[in-house]
This record gives sequence, structure tokens and C-alpha cells, in this order.
Amino acid sequence: MSKVPLPFAAPTVTAKIVDGARWGDPGSGSAPGAGRGVLGSTAAVLFFDWPGQVRLFFDWPGQVRLGRRGRGTSQAVETVVITGASSGVGRAAALAFARAGARLVLSSRSAPALEQVAAECRALRAEAHARAEAATGNAAQAAAQGRAEAGAGVKAGGPAGSRVEGGARAQGENAGGVTVVVADVTAPETVEAVAAAAGDRIDVWVHTAAVMAYGRFEDVPAEVFDQVVATDLLGAATVARVALKRFRRQGPKRGRGVLIFGGSLLGTVVTPYTSSYVTSKWGLRALVRALRLETRDAPAIHVCLVSPGAVDTPIYRNAANFAGRIGRPPPPIDRAEKVAAAIVRCARRPRGTVTVGAANKLILFGFLATPPLYDFLVGPLMRLAGLSREKVAPHPGNVFAPPPPSAESVRGGRRRR
Ligand SMILES: NC(=O)c1ccc[n+]([C@@H]2O[C@H](COP(=O)([O-])OP(=O)(O)OC[C@H]3O[C@@H](n4cnc5c(N)ncnc54)[C@H](OP(=O)(O)O)[C@@H]3O)[C@@H](O)[C@H]2O)c1
Repeated sequence: MSKVPLPFAAPTVTAKIVDGARWGDPGSGSAPGAGRGVLGSTAAVLFFDWPGQVRLFFDWPGQVRLGRRGRGTSQAVETVVITGASSGVGRAAALAFARAGARLVLSSRSAPALEQVAAECRALRAEAHARAEAATGNAAQAAAQGRAEAGAGVKAGGPAGSRVEGGARAQGENAGGVTVVVADVTAPETVEAVAAAAGDRIDVWVHTAAVMAYGRFEDVPAEVFDQVVATDLLGAATVARVALKRFRRQGPKRGRGVLIFGGSLLGTVVTPYTSSYVTSKWGLRALVRALRLETRDAPAIHVCLVSPGAVDTPIYRNAANFAGRIGRPPPPIDRAEKVAAAIVRCARRPRGTVTVGAANKLILFGFLATPPLYDFLVGPLMRLAGLSREKVAPHPGNVFAPPPPSAESVRGGRRRR
């Protein structure tokens, strides 16, 4: 029997279980997009690859999509904006990007805390540049330049700062490759000023600014609830609006840039006594998904969500509290540096959703598969592991204003090193 020639080239077919954390990584042979499985990241994928980089893939649970091989390749990470850079994960990310030599624009509401981070970042950048130059045999000159840049940073970053558009304040304008902009994500004009301070180019915008409020919904004052949502959800929308407007002006194919949001396990499950935060994080996950759909026309714009479980940062102690006891991260607790490393990887090789946390999948499985058992257990577990024994009078914490700089750091002091 003679063979009937196919009117098109036969594809190579491959089946894979893909981990969302590696989804989009060219090394994994996976496709671009997102970790989308029921468990937040895992998906079974069937790839049909034709010559000429054309790839059709079916992922379960998920969708059928046409893609191109080789997307998700390494991105340039030269200029990074971080909103929420003065504390916790954002601060750890600032240090990690500085260690990699990136030019930084650091923002939050607290000028003194930002200046501390900026000084550390300038020193790390100077070392990174000296190392790079040493590798190319120009060490003495690079070290001198690094010291000069770091010195300029300290000098230029005076306490008063200079005013920039929109009422935000930029300090140490690009000194040592690090610019500090005091801005509040609930004030859109100040977020515009953050983008303006970055100059012509923004490769990556990391948004980790957030606040929390503990207490039963009925005990949390309405203005506190509203301000948490305004910061954590509407603030993220403001950042997205400003960042995407800028990204659309960069690059040839309808824009370029990586926008990384700090999500949370609490954007996929629910705990009591954190209603404003949980509401915001569920909303943020929906917003990120919508933005991804609406930027499909721009293959070089990536909207990513890095979602940790519990992380040892000052957010718990600085939170508003109407629960009577200070909040704490329930185990297993990760370091902020681990989440920062995931953010840096995501910046270099963008992925849709990255989860960080050993228990995230188990908790999400319990939430989705056994809702009555989850609902029965989550209250007592939250009171046992999510609230400390330390009593506290009702207070609005850092919801309306930043805490003193001594209360902002990478670590929260809950986790033994
Ligand atoms: N820690 C955890 O266990 C955990 C778990 C899951 C997800 N996350 C997420 O990870 C991200 C970082 O949290 P974190 O634990 O690192 O918190 P954090 O240590 O409290 O840091 C929050 C940052 O947001 C800034 N910020 C707060 N309100 C702001 C506003 N209105 N405008 C501008 N900046 C503002 C704070 O600076 P100022 O106060 O100086 O403005 C600070 O730099 C958040 O999205 C959080 O939801 C954290």
C-alpha cells in the first residue's frame, strides 16, 4: 500500500508533567505561559512541535494554545523598579538584584528605611561591578569607579530629597545606580513619579507593597479594611496601569517588560481574621490573570505572580491588629531571601505563577478537595499557629503610615537561621 503524503509536516509529539515553577524555562522544554494547574502550578501538557518553532500545546487542566518554542528565554535585567522595597521580600529582592548589578529604583512610603536599603544596594552593586570588571582584567579601575559611585550615592541622598512630579520625592538621583523615590501606592501620581525616576527603560517592575489587618471582619474598622484593600489591591492596579503604559512604549512588538506581583497562598485559600488581606489577594490573582489575557498581543510583556506561603518578615508585627494577639507566620516559614531568589529567577525567565512554600499545595488541596474539613480546622489552626500569645491593644499598625525605620528589615525575627 502506498503512503499518502500529509499536506503538512508531521509534528513531534511529547507528553510532560510540568511544574509551574519551571513552566516557561527553556531548559524544561516547556511552553511559555503560566503554572495553571488545579494545585496552582502543576499541569499535564501534550506538545505538538512543528519545524519552524511552531508549537501547539494542550495542558490539563487548562487550555489549548498555540505558542512558539524558545519563549521564556533569558530576559535583560538591567533596570529594576521595586515598590515595597523598604522591608521584607521587597527589600530582600532589592539586595538580590543589586548583587546581580542591576540599576534600581526603590520605593515605599519611608524615606529613612529606603535610604538604608539603598546604601546596602550601592555597596553590593559596586562589588558586583568590580567583580565583573576583574573578570575582564580591569579590577582597579572598576573598584575605584564602584567606590566613587557608592560615595556619590551617600552624598546625593540627603535627608530632604528633591521633589519630583506628582508629589513623590526622589533621593540620591541615580547615585551608585540606585534611586530612591518616596511614594504611596494609594496615590497614583506618586507611582507615576516612580516610573519617571527610572528614566527611559524599565526591564522589570517588582511590586511587593502590602499591609495587613488582623481581626474579625466585624471588629476591624471600616476605614482600616478599606485602606488595606486600597493598598493591596487597588495599589497593585495602579502599579499595573503605570508599568504597562511604560512597557507598551518599550520594545518593538507592542511592548516589553516583566511585571512581577507579590501574591500569596492567601490568594487561593481563605483564613479567618484576615478578611481585608485575603479579599485583596484573591482580587490580585484575578487581576493578574486578566492582565495576562489582555497582554497576549505583546509576547515580550510578562505579568507574573510570585505567591509565597508564610515568610518571616516584619509584616505580621507591623500589621493593624484588632484580634487582641499579635499575628505571626504559621509554619513552615520561609526566608524572605528565598522568595527574593524566586523573584529574580522569574525576572530572568518569566513564568506566570510561581509558588514558594513547602505546604502550599497540601493546604490548597485541602481547601479545594475537602472544604468542610478545611473549614472545621482552619479557625483553630489559625488561632494556634497564626496568632502569638503576645497580647496587643487594638491599633491601625502601618496601614495608614509607615512604621519607624527600625521596624522595617528583611527578616521578622520569627525564624531561626
Ligand atoms: N510575609 C509573608 O508571610 C507573606 C506571605 C505571602 C505573601 N506575602 C506578600 O509578599 C509581599 C511582601 O510582603 P512582606 O512580608 O515583605 O511585607 P513587609 O515586610 O511589611 O513589606 C511591605 C512593604 O510594602 C511597603 N508599603 C506598605 N504600604 C505601602 C503603600 N501604601 N505605598 C507604598 N509602599 C507601601 C512597606 O513600606 P512602607 O511601610 O515604608 O511604605 C514595605 O516596604 C506582599 O505582597 C505580601 O502580601 C508575604
